[in-house]
Amino acid sequence: MAQSNIEPMSDERVPGDDAPPDPEVFPATLLEGAHVVVTGGGSGLGRSIARRCAAVGAHVGVIGRRRGRLDETVALVTAAGGTAAAASADIKHADAVDAALAALEDHNGPVTHLVNNAAGNFLALTETITERGFDAVVGTNLYGSFHATTACGRRWIERGRGGTVLSISTTYAASGSAYLVPSAVSKAGIEALTRSLAVEWGRHGIRLNGIAPGPIPTEGAWKRLVPDDALEEDLRARIPLGRFGTRDDLTHLALFLLSDLSAYITGQIVSMDGGEHLATGGWFNEMARRPKQELAAMFAAMRPPSRDTPGPTGTPGPAGDEPDGS
Ligand SMILES: NC(=O)c1ccc[n+]([C@@H]2O[C@H](COP(=O)([O-])OP(=O)(O)OC[C@H]3O[C@@H](n4cnc5c(N)ncnc54)[C@H](OP(=O)(O)O)[C@@H]3O)[C@@H](O)[C@H]2O)c1
Repeated sequence: MAQSNIEPMSDERVPGDDAPPDPEVFPATLLEGAHVVVTGGGSGLGRSIARRCAAVGAHVGVIGRRRGRLDETVALVTAAGGTAAAASADIKHADAVDAALAALEDHNGPVTHLVNNAAGNFLALTETITERGFDAVVGTNLYGSFHATTACGRRWIERGRGGTVLSISTTYAASGSAYLVPSAVSKAGIEALTRSLAVEWGRHGIRLNGIAPGPIPTEGAWKRLVPDDALEEDLRARIPLGRFGTRDDLTHLALFLLSDLSAYITGQIVSMDGGEHLATGGWFNEMARRPKQELAAMFAAMRPPSRDTPGPTGTPGPAGDEPDGS
């Protein structure tokens, strides 16, 4: 498939969009006949998801506020031989979402899949956040996902042919995150929405799942959340697999969860973060960042001498039998 470089990259720390899905893994017909609508499809991860879905046979529709960015995505998809349409809308407003979906259906036929990807976010001391700032993030992330999900759900229930929703959450929806409170609470709400509707709408053949990614360099996320190299390095050092996620990591999982490959999976939020949320939860997980030999020496020095000195029966001596309380 022809690749183009339309996506502007103002931050050299952020790699551009990459290759289409490996045809050996994902057949070009994986989503043939589907109409996948991606909110926030005019940039970053949403654009990558839209392009990958089109590469495996789906018609794609992208929704966002900036028409120019949406049109760039449409141009990338059509240049690669796919079908795409754009509709601008501020997803904070239910009427606007419904009108955008209707316009996309006029172009691409009935929507079959929804990707709740659009989001806003900013770092702030929570006590300084205004009602307007809180509304902007929660209105986009949570209300926007609710509006898009229910607008699709109503159509799917009426038509009786099922449907699939994939929401892009974040790992700190579960843990909470200092300085990102509006985002954390709204993503936690999206996860609750996903689990709730998986049960309520299962009878209609509607599946809902989510992906909780760790950091993935995109122009939008890096500009808002990772202002300098030191913070970037600090974030990277927390990840057991030693690197940030990539658009391929995300889109491979997205294709799986959108397609019938995952036909029996619903109500699940899949973490995709190189182990980051597990590593930062445990008391001693930070130790994994120290050199292994240093740890081995430290642990050996801490061991009671009697552990290495077998008792008369060959078992550890008395002082080594009982761990100290913690
Ligand atoms: N990149 C990461 O490290 C990371 C990690 C975890 C989760 N995520 C999640 O992944 C998703 C994509 O993030 P990204 O990094 O690709 O950021 P991004 O490029 O800034 O994408 C956000 C998109 O949302 C759209 N949007 C924002 N407000 C909107 C509104 N009110 N109505 C309609 N569209 C709106 C934006 O388009 P307009 O401005 O044109 O409207 C933009 O295309 C988000 O849900 C984010 O929380 C990202």
